[in-house]
Formats: sequence, structure tokens, C-alpha cells
Amino acid sequence: MRYETLRIGIEDRIATIVVDRPEKRNALNAVVRRELVDALDALRDDDGVRVVVLTGEGDRAFVAGADITEFAERSPLQQRDAMDGRRVFEVLAEFPKPTIAKINGYALGGGCELALACDFRIAARSARLGQPEIRLGILPGGGGTQRLPRIVGYGRALRMILIGELVDAEEAERIGLVDLVVDDDELDARTRELAATLAGYSPVALRLAKDAVRATLEMPLSAGLRYERELFVTAFASEDRNEGIRAFLEKRAPEFAGR
Ligand code: COA
Repeated sequence: MRYETLRIGIEDRIATIVVDRPEKRNALNAVVRRELVDALDALRDDDGVRVVVLTGEGDRAFVAGADITEFAERSPLQQRDAMDGRRVFEVLAEFPKPTIAKINGYALGGGCELALACDFRIAARSARLGQPEIRLGILPGGGGTQRLPRIVGYGRALRMILIGELVDAEEAERIGLVDLVVDDDELDARTRELAATLAGYSPVALRLAKDAVRATLEMPLSAGLRYERELFVTAFASEDRNEGIRAFLEKRAPEFAGR
């Protein structure tokens, strides 16, 4: 499929989606949002893809937020329409394969929210993150008020959202907003390293494990523990389980088929 605002490459079972509007700091307009949903749908169904990396073109921005020019033109009902339907943040959060945000510059507003919806966040040392919507007289609308407190804690999230302060990559790592900070020139290699590790594991086990951990966001402990047990037993139905255990006993590396 061809995209107007994205570039997609697949190598060694790792798909990389690049948001390609560097002249607008990769801001999320309606086309980018729609294409991201389409691309994620296609990558979900592609058995040759085991991990998805999301990043922005250029060295300035990951994604500098929603495209503010679109906000200027919309009525509340038009905005409501734009926010209905399948939204990229939810499609990403529910994606059944591991996702990595490779944060190569500003991740602001909807850009920070995209990163929050990914499973891993790796940031270049020069990157800056934040939810600056308050400065525009609005608030985060892509899940930031819900996902940010769950990741960095209530107090710190409230401060970021009410004050609109940006945090640099090292501070982001300290508060748990990113998992890893690396020198700018190492961002590609370190991201590939993590993606390759994930791509070598069983996609079935990864999917079930992600599902189980995500259940903590919705379920009380007793229900979550029951759910975990069911998923654990489901993993026993996979060929990958046989392969993983056999490989261990035979002292060799496993080759997971993804079944
Ligand atoms: N929506 C629309 N356009 C955006 C944008 C956004 N979120 N972020 C950047 N742009 C555009 C700028 O308007 C500018 O366009 P122009 O060249 O036609 O004037 C272009 O991208 C380059 O931006 P500029 O501000 O010159 O780049 P910079 O590298 O100096 O600064 C930012 C980068 C990200 C710090 C700055 O652009 C910014 O603060 N953007 C808005 C961030 C924001 O509030 N996001 C939340 C939205 S809800």
C-alpha cells in the first residue's frame, strides 16, 4: 500500500513506520491519523512482521502533536466527528504485537500520546516530551490524561498536563516516561537491538503476555489472576511452547514459528 504521509519499511521481521511530514514537525493531521490506522491494520495481519517501530522523519521531531491548523477550522461537532470511530491511539495500544516508539525529537501533545500508547519508548538524548495543550486553551484528547498518570504517576502527570512543561529525555527516563535514553547517534542501533530481541521471541507468547499485563488496567486483582491463568494455559496450546521448552532441554536456540 502507498501512503501520502508515511514511509514503511520491513526488515528482519521488524516494521518501521516513519511519519513523514518533517516540514510540519510530523504533526498529526487527519491524513496521518487515517494512514496510521490503515498501516497498523496491514501490519497486524502480516505474519512476516513481529514488531513495529514508530518514529518521525528528520532530526527535529518524533511527532509535534495534533495539527493545530485543523483545530482552528473546526466546530465542536466537527471535532467530535474527527474523534469518533477507530482512533490511532487505541489501535496502537491494542495492537497485538510489540510496539516501540523511537523518539527522535519533540514528542508533544498527540505525539507524546502516541508514544504513551506504545509498549516501549526509547528516546534520543536531545528529545523532549510533554503535553503542552493547556497553553493552547485545550487539554490532551488522545489518551494523555489517562495513560500518562498510569505511567508516571498521578502527581507528575498532573504537573505535566496542568503546567504544560516539557521534560528532556533524561528527566523522562527518571520519571518512567521513557524506558531508555541513548545518544542521538545510537538511537537507530539501540532500537533495532530491542526490536530484534522481541522479534526472536514467540509472537503467540508476546501477544498473550501483553494481553495479560494490559488487563491490569481494567481488572481487579482476583479477576486478573484468573485471566492470567487462562492465558497461560492458552500458551500451552501453541507449537511455540513445544519449541521453546524442547530447545531449552536440547541446549539450543529456539526457532519460534508463531503458531
Ligand atoms: N501543528 C501544526 N503545525 C505545526 C505543529 C503542530 N502541532 N508543530 C509544528 N508545526 C509547524 C510550524 O507551524 C512550522 O510551520 P511553518 O514553517 O509553515 O511556519 C513548522 O512546523 C516548523 O515549526 P517551528 O516551530 O518553526 O519548528 P521548531 O523546530 O523551531 O519548533 C516545536 C518545534 C515542536 C517546539 C514547535 O513547532 C511547537 O511548539 N509546535 C507545537 C507543539 C504543540 O503545541 N503541540 C500540541 C498540539 S495539541
